[in-house]
Amino acid sequence: MEENIEKVVEEAALEAEGAQSSRALYEVKMKFLGRTGKVTALLKNMREIAAEARPAFGKRVNAVREKLEELFSRLEEKVKERELAARLKEEEIDVTLPGRHQRAGALHPVTRIKSELIEIFSGMGFEVFEGPEIESEYYNFTALNTPADHPARAMQDTFYITDEFLLRTQTSAGQIRLMEKKKPPIKMLSPGKVFRADDDATHSPMFHQMEGLVVDKHITLCDLQGMLDEFARKVFSETSKTRLRPSYFPFTEPSVEVDVSCAACGGKGCSLCKGTGWIEVLGAGMVNRHVLENCGIDPDEYSGFAFGMGIERIAMLKYGINHIRLFTENDVRFLKEFED
Ligand code: PHE
Repeated sequence: MEENIEKVVEEAALEAEGAQSSRALYEVKMKFLGRTGKVTALLKNMREIAAEARPAFGKRVNAVREKLEELFSRLEEKVKERELAARLKEEEIDVTLPGRHQRAGALHPVTRIKSELIEIFSGMGFEVFEGPEIESEYYNFTALNTPADHPARAMQDTFYITDEFLLRTQTSAGQIRLMEKKKPPIKMLSPGKVFRADDDATHSPMFHQMEGLVVDKHITLCDLQGMLDEFARKVFSETSKTRLRPSYFPFTEPSVEVDVSCAACGGKGCSLCKGTGWIEVLGAGMVNRHVLENCGIDPDEYSGFAFGMGIERIAMLKYGINHIRLFTENDVRFLKEFED
């Protein structure tokens, strides 16, 4: 019997020393000390032993169990230490490694100018209204005092979708949509994409406009110029001035072309302003009485002004961008220029 015990102890010690992980060690422990383990099994042989030898045998087996338990807890500690060290090594972080560079994106220049304009004009009480990009002829032309046979339709090379529907050529279409719904006083700002079959260094088939419309009692051309001066000072420079030149749009009367004093040379004349000291930035005018009538607004009681500017054009002037295609190429080297 004693031999048997020695064999079990030897076997247990050998297997326990060989266990490489705490899981393996636990399994060895269960194999010997568990409820169905080999040491426990020794006690089940009690019956085969003479009655007087039983107490001594029981004591012996218990001593062996205690010794093995001690061995297991010693090994357990060792294995755990080893495992912890291995884990720490694996998770080690070299704080001296150079960090990975995180590049943040930047707002597109068109988005920047658009937000800047909205901020400036909302400070003057304008509300933003956005019309649809696919328009009917009525909103894009007819209601804007441009009937079908009107020569001004040829001023803009329109993309037609059907006989009736087209890609809007101007955000002015939004003026009608708003005035049909809202009566004066009106102060509207309408940003959006517009489309024209046109393509060169300063024209693109799709570009953005910002439309402005003010309708109230006693609105005059002076109100328009005062507001445009404020816009030019905020967008270009503190000393910017505007000048109005006579022009023609079917939906405004009188109509004007608005120039801003050249911010590059301060008005002295340079290559940017082609020596004139002025740069054309937008079209504007007093809302034509037919347009007000078309929207059910009495032109004898109310008057208004409207303006429309190309957002890309403002961005090109402000940032010195020389080709309109740069806005849609999405070359990161170009976009990076606008990081804050
Ligand atoms: N819609 C005109 C254009 O696209 C600009 C404009 C807007 C002119 C409002 C006068 C008043 O050229």
